[in-house]
Amino acid sequence: MSTSLDLPGGTWTLGDRTVTRFGYGAMQLAGPWVFGPPKDHDAALAVLREAVASGITHIDTAETYGPRVVNDLIREALHPYAGDLVIATKAGGRRDDHGGWPAARKPDELRAQIDDNLATLGVDALDLVHLRLGDANGPVPGERIDEAMATLVDLQRQGVIRHLGVSNATVDQVTQAQSIAPIVSVQNRYNLADRTDDELIDRLAGESIAYIPFFPLGGFTPLQSDALSAVAARLGLTPMSVALAWLLQRSPNILLIPGTSSVTHLRENLSGAVLELSAADVDELDRIAGQA
Ligand SMILES: NC(=O)c1ccc[n+]([C@@H]2O[C@H](COP(=O)([O-])OP(=O)(O)OC[C@H]3O[C@@H](n4cnc5c(N)ncnc54)[C@H](OP(=O)(O)O)[C@@H]3O)[C@@H](O)[C@H]2O)c1
Repeated sequence: MSTSLDLPGGTWTLGDRTVTRFGYGAMQLAGPWVFGPPKDHDAALAVLREAVASGITHIDTAETYGPRVVNDLIREALHPYAGDLVIATKAGGRRDDHGGWPAARKPDELRAQIDDNLATLGVDALDLVHLRLGDANGPVPGERIDEAMATLVDLQRQGVIRHLGVSNATVDQVTQAQSIAPIVSVQNRYNLADRTDDELIDRLAGESIAYIPFFPLGGFTPLQSDALSAVAARLGLTPMSVALAWLLQRSPNILLIPGTSSVTHLRENLSGAVLELSAADVDELDRIAGQA
């Protein structure tokens, strides 16, 4: 078994916990479009066990994945949890009968979601809860967050949440959240092709707050770019590994939660992302989003 010291990117202090910067995003373990059970239950358990056996100490989930399916898989695969494992989850949304993701941020809805997360994960307190804002298209400017944040802060005071973060948030909403309570992380969409949050990442790095890109590999439509393929071919790696190595190199506060339902892909991503990209490689990759 390897240790966290072997993992690409080393570690980061998330609140009062040390986590590997290379984590695992569990969303893809549910059925198609994150709805219903996985097509291969045992294979899903194997991916989770492999992640932890590899030394990963940060797993990202949500009670809406399935719904409940992914939390149930995590509990089945890994409970009782290793002392160094941090499981981050979310509140602020629900699933409808068609697999949609409507908002659910009223105090009673948030309290029910936290209870659900506690029960499905089988814990007395949640390590990290991201308040999930916006909608499926991204953050919604002007959306109010004060009542929802106050509800989560109250639950934190009661001891059922250890640390708070926000997700799918605008820069203003991040600032507003920080004015209400300390947050340890922001989880927004970001990758080689979507650099909207570049300034926010740099600001958060200066404040020792983690930035956790979701869809680091492009999400439901994995990244495809001639430049990425060219750099990967030159280095003898997969494009996915190069995309992850680039994120690790982009800023020290970036924590990875790439998703996969395959042990082979998990191993491939872990072994490739250790690579140190040259300035010329980074320059070429920066051109994908027109940043160079
Ligand atoms: N806060 C939010 O609103 C929010 C929204 C979305 C996601 N998230 C979190 O972010 C995490 C990451 O997002 P994601 O999983 O949707 O997207 P992602 O990590 O960008 O990409 C996952 C996709 O990449 C494929 N993949 C992974 N490694 C590969 C490899 N080596 N070769 C080829 N394909 C590979 C996976 O397919 P295979 O299964 O075949 O490997 C999967 O289809 C999620 O798990 C979730 O925890 C949060």
